[in-house]
Amino acid sequence: MLELARQYASYYVNAKTKHGVHSPFVFDLITKVFEDKEVYPDYLVVEKLRQDLLNNRLITEVEDFGAGGEKQAVSERKISDIAARAAKPARWGKLLYRLCKYFKPQNMLEFGTSLGITSAYQALGARQGSESFRFVSLEGSKNLVELAHINFKELGIDKDIHLVTGNFDKTLPKVLEDFERLDYIFIDGNHRKAPTLDYFNQMLDKAHNDTVFIFDDIHWSKEMSEAWDELKAHPKVTVSIDLFYIGLIFLRKEQEEEHFVIRF
Ligand SMILES: C[S@@+](CC[C@H](N)C(=O)[O-])C[C@H]1O[C@@H](n2cnc3c(N)ncnc32)[C@H](O)[C@@H]1O
Repeated sequence: MLELARQYASYYVNAKTKHGVHSPFVFDLITKVFEDKEVYPDYLVVEKLRQDLLNNRLITEVEDFGAGGEKQAVSERKISDIAARAAKPARWGKLLYRLCKYFKPQNMLEFGTSLGITSAYQALGARQGSESFRFVSLEGSKNLVELAHINFKELGIDKDIHLVTGNFDKTLPKVLEDFERLDYIFIDGNHRKAPTLDYFNQMLDKAHNDTVFIFDDIHWSKEMSEAWDELKAHPKVTVSIDLFYIGLIFLRKEQEEEHFVIRF
């Protein structure tokens, strides 16, 4: 915890504002997406869902995919507790919404649905950007998939999000077969170095010049910091943007290699 605080302090001191950025692509992204302060009505819809989940004292059984062992441990969790601990805070959900609205992805993949808060933000954002899109969200825990589906129905987005149940290690190869290309990927689950890099490498075949990769919790642990450093050093990666809690990766060939740390 202390280490994370130390890293955050170092990020905060070193992070640039848009005035230190010369790349028009990154400058536009900061101005039009990161700094967009408009309160979109969709924000209220997702935050109302979050509030309902935070008030929900029902208990559900959840398989624990954090442990990494062969056999999945199962624990009983209050829905309110999952909503409080697992879901990305509103500020980041809203940013994901704006990223989808801005980039207009047609082929989207999310790792880690949980109760569906970020899925909802991204599906609603993609609806603003493009007429049609395909969005697959992966989740290991069966009960969470069921709960997320109920939430999507309530929001009228159940037809927009295709849920796939199972360990990412098992479901990803099949899911990738069904995508011709990937335009937008959000990885928010299994925050360990080897799987993170493995998922990235598996997806590279389906990625293209304009694909947006978003990695969650890039400084959460030593392993994740190392994974982030390896992603930045990958020969196909030309641009990275470190916002501390999430990191964006691009493969844009026309752009000179540059790694940004941006204050958000
Ligand atoms: C942090 S939560 C996702 C939160 C969600 N993106 C949000 O902000 O609303 C991560 C989820 O990934 C799932 N997960 C983690 N590792 C997994 C794995 N190897 N296979 C399948 N699911 C996994 C967990 O069950 C958990 O629900």
